[in-house]
Amino acid sequence: MKYDIKNARLAPAGKSRIEWASTQMPVLEFIRKRFSKERPLKGLRLSACLHVTCETANLAITLKSGGANVVLVASNPLSTQDDISASLVKHFGIPVFAIRGENRKTYYSHIYAALDHHPHITMDDGADLVSAIHKEPGKYKKSIFAGTEETTTGVVRLRSLEGQGRLLYPIVAVNDADTKHFFDNRYGTGQSTIDGIIRATNILLAGSVVVVCGYGWCGRGVASRARGMGAKVIVTEVDPLRALEAVMDGFQVMPMDQAARQGDVFITVTGNTSVLRKEHFVKMKDRAIISNSGHFDVEIDIRHLKKMTKKTRRVRENVQEFMLPNHKRIFLLAEGRLVNLGAAEGHPATVMDMSFANQALSAEWVTQFHESLERKVYRVPEDIDKEIARLKLRSMDVNIDVLTTQQAKYLSGWEVGT
Ligand code: ADE
Repeated sequence: MKYDIKNARLAPAGKSRIEWASTQMPVLEFIRKRFSKERPLKGLRLSACLHVTCETANLAITLKSGGANVVLVASNPLSTQDDISASLVKHFGIPVFAIRGENRKTYYSHIYAALDHHPHITMDDGADLVSAIHKEPGKYKKSIFAGTEETTTGVVRLRSLEGQGRLLYPIVAVNDADTKHFFDNRYGTGQSTIDGIIRATNILLAGSVVVVCGYGWCGRGVASRARGMGAKVIVTEVDPLRALEAVMDGFQVMPMDQAARQGDVFITVTGNTSVLRKEHFVKMKDRAIISNSGHFDVEIDIRHLKKMTKKTRRVRENVQEFMLPNHKRIFLLAEGRLVNLGAAEGHPATVMDMSFANQALSAEWVTQFHESLERKVYRVPEDIDKEIARLKLRSMDVNIDVLTTQQAKYLSGWEVGT
């Protein structure tokens, strides 16, 4: 078995963490037990490009239980948990190509290792596998019949391919399932981003001014959790509807030009590029902390920050100080990469349970139905989404009401009015 990991001796620590995460992932456990019996992915090669975490390990094990021949590679150079890669290789026989801190060249050599597996199904978080396939379709497309995508940024890239009529195979946008983005993006990113900032800096959020850039599902989660910790939260947006929602949720909303002067901590979660840039850096207070929780490390213009800087040094693990010509210091966390995975452990298993249940069931669904699917981006079927919500509620011992016959009839009719 070929693989590329940091250190096989880390495997026992990884196994304990995989088992711990499993205790918080009852829906995935339920699916794993069914997959072991029914083997719906039997004989399929599946290449997954995901953050290599203890939660992802549980997904990979579930897919393997379903009969898939899985290869796992990193979807970000800084998110890999090396003990998890070691355990997957050693205890579960799953090839992993991922090393925390890998450079761009190694990152792409791992992407190509995943493609050399000649997958039937691709599973992406950010669409780097799909992007590589579409650059050399002659070489890599042949075996593939479908794919899945985990995150907002990946879905945006897929819709761009689809819009240009260039998408080569059907892909399920797992991100768009309600049991994914309502929970993972909001509560997962919300909590783990604050966790990453606190682990990196140990600052007190109470009383500080936190600027959240972007008020999508992730931004809503981050803003709400920062407020919960006692921070004064400012939101910046480009979308009038989202900005209005932030106002009515009780946040201050203003352009970044203004917010730059006021913030103690900045968190970008927009999915866009150069959200924090030169004209903002020069306006920031001394000791401003800047971080990113969007998928790619493009939201903070680090190249420009470096250019403007006289001196830079590492002041703590995951904290880089930039001394500007005006003698103000800016602290950049986790190299501007996802702070929740770079400086903490990513989303808690409780939410990844639902995200990865969507992944596992979508892989099963495309296996069953790919012959009737077109080269399009698909939503997770509603019955899968609802079933995951039902299973999650059951695992939490929460019961809900059912419609009476009279209510069901009322909802399906039009006759009864004023
Ligand atoms: N994305 C965000 N958090 C994650 C986690 N814990 N595992 C895998 N992918 C993630």
